[in-house]
Amino acid sequence: MRYEPGNWGDILKGEWLCQWLEWKLSGGGRQLRYQDPFCGWPEYPVTESTRRRVLNSPARRYAGYLGLSSASLVARHARSLGLQLESHLSDRETALDLKPCDLLLFDPYDFFERWLEWNDLLLEASHDRDIVVYLYNKSPRGVSQFRQYQALRERWKGRPLVLGRVPADSVLPRAWHEVWLVGPSAAQAGLVGPLRETSLQLHRHISEPGVFEG
Ligand SMILES: C[S@@+](CC[C@H](N)C(=O)[O-])C[C@H]1O[C@@H](n2cnc3c(N)ncnc32)[C@H](O)[C@@H]1O
Repeated sequence: MRYEPGNWGDILKGEWLCQWLEWKLSGGGRQLRYQDPFCGWPEYPVTESTRRRVLNSPARRYAGYLGLSSASLVARHARSLGLQLESHLSDRETALDLKPCDLLLFDPYDFFERWLEWNDLLLEASHDRDIVVYLYNKSPRGVSQFRQYQALRERWKGRPLVLGRVPADSVLPRAWHEVWLVGPSAAQAGLVGPLRETSLQLHRHISEPGVFEG
């Protein structure tokens, strides 16, 4: 299935992935292993509205990688930082098979609906690697969705987890785009502070036009 990257969730995810790489570099990392088991295509056509949305946003890093999948963005950003990256990429052709790695991107379309299938695997894997999870959080649509979300969050209680949350729209926010970082680095202030700042900036940029009209 084709999807068109460039929504606010992709933008937040791309910024966080770049910031994670920069954090690793600042800690002396030179060689990294990355896994993306839902990698999609390497590149996508960019519509004019997506281009405008990104270029008018505070997402400076993502703007440099317009139209790229996360896997391509990670590869390009790593190269620009002088990092050596070993990537394990797959999509629908194979069953989910987690490899030893430093960073796992977990971004199927339907984690919100299917988290029960995958969550134990992620809890286990996050002991020895960082995981960036994308979640299209449908809680604003009703109480049953919110309960579903609360049950998921309950499973992660007490584990290192930070998340950025931005509305899907400034006037009709029917969902939240959430990007999670779970794993050892989620407890590191030097990474968490910049991730928080990026999320706040993007949240303000999306929300503010809906706050006051006149
Ligand atoms: C949101 S897109 C991935 C985007 C990519 N991670 C990125 O950030 O550029 C979701 C991808 O997951 C794949 N996918 C969905 N369900 C899957 C499954 N059960 N097994 C393997 N791949 C799946 C789809 O084919 C699609 O390419």
